[in-house]
Amino acid sequence: MIITNLIEEKKLSQDFYRSEFMKEIANGLNSMPKIISSKYFYDDIGSQLFVEITKLDEYYPTKAEEEILLSLKDILPDLVGRDEVDIIELGVGDGHKTKILIDSFIKSKIKINFYPIDISLEAMNLLEENLPKSNNLKVHGIVSEYLEGLRFARMNSCNRQIVLFLGGNIGNFDRHESLKILNSIRLTLNEDDFLLIGFDLKKNIDKMQNAYSDKRGITALFNLNLLERINSELHGNFIKENFRHQAFYNPTIGAMESYLISLIDQDVEINDLNQTFHFEEFEAIHMEYSFKFLEKDIIEICEQTGFTHISSFKDTRQYFIDSLWQV
Ligand SMILES: C[S@@+](CC[C@H](N)C(=O)[O-])C[C@H]1O[C@@H](n2cnc3c(N)ncnc32)[C@H](O)[C@@H]1O
Repeated sequence: MIITNLIEEKKLSQDFYRSEFMKEIANGLNSMPKIISSKYFYDDIGSQLFVEITKLDEYYPTKAEEEILLSLKDILPDLVGRDEVDIIELGVGDGHKTKILIDSFIKSKIKINFYPIDISLEAMNLLEENLPKSNNLKVHGIVSEYLEGLRFARMNSCNRQIVLFLGGNIGNFDRHESLKILNSIRLTLNEDDFLLIGFDLKKNIDKMQNAYSDKRGITALFNLNLLERINSELHGNFIKENFRHQAFYNPTIGAMESYLISLIDQDVEINDLNQTFHFEEFEAIHMEYSFKFLEKDIIEICEQTGFTHISSFKDTRQYFIDSLWQV
């Protein structure tokens, strides 16, 4: 597997990336209410904790999507109808679900150029362990933000492309941001290329809330790890025991929201920012949105972003949809 680290290349070492991280943390912690972007969850430990989350009994999205991918694995190779194809995955994580699709293309004797894209280098390392070995599979990992990686992959090939945006990653964005990202994806692709995109459906509220507040507390560790990341990368002195993780479904916006709540009145210094941040008792940091959808929302978003809706595939419990769109 070749890995191109666009973050390192673009940033003349890690400096630029670090300064983006510093800027976003400073802006977020100076905002009212305080906020940190969920894209920073995924340092090495965060990526490993996410793999643990996907194995939790309460975390239904991964199991639901696995069931869907197993049901459509034999449909996709036929639909693509080519001897060679590019599969580009945005935010691949450990890629264990993608393996289901890659195996089916290999079985159909279609050559695959796989471009996994992830902001986390650790995700690439986890992925490598999950990929099958085959002469028909070439893997070119790209460490970058979603759209930057997609443009790089498009520049490197003129094969028919299937973009995978699995696991409900699109749910981290509100409607306005999602439309912008999906529009940019469409504009980067060629006519007839495909997008297979995951959407977590609205469902029993306890079911959703339990998925983001598991009994073993792994999701809490995952959120608190971002404070540790700030401590180690920006020399902060967050004491994670002084915060607790809280997740709930907000029906007015249709999203699960995650917060870290300060348990005491406290000051936190972040040396590399040269700043001290005050937290009142019960003050919250907003950590993540995970928007949930109705089936009609998915068709609407597809139409609004100029794709053609080919088909939507649900798991038997109707928890999740993978929707296939074409340019
Ligand atoms: C919730 S995990 C999902 C992983 C995988 N798609 C799945 O379904 O299991 C999100 C993944 O997207 C990556 N990610 C988050 N924000 C990103 C961004 N802006 N650009 C590229 N990758 C991103 C994270 O590093 C992480 O591996």
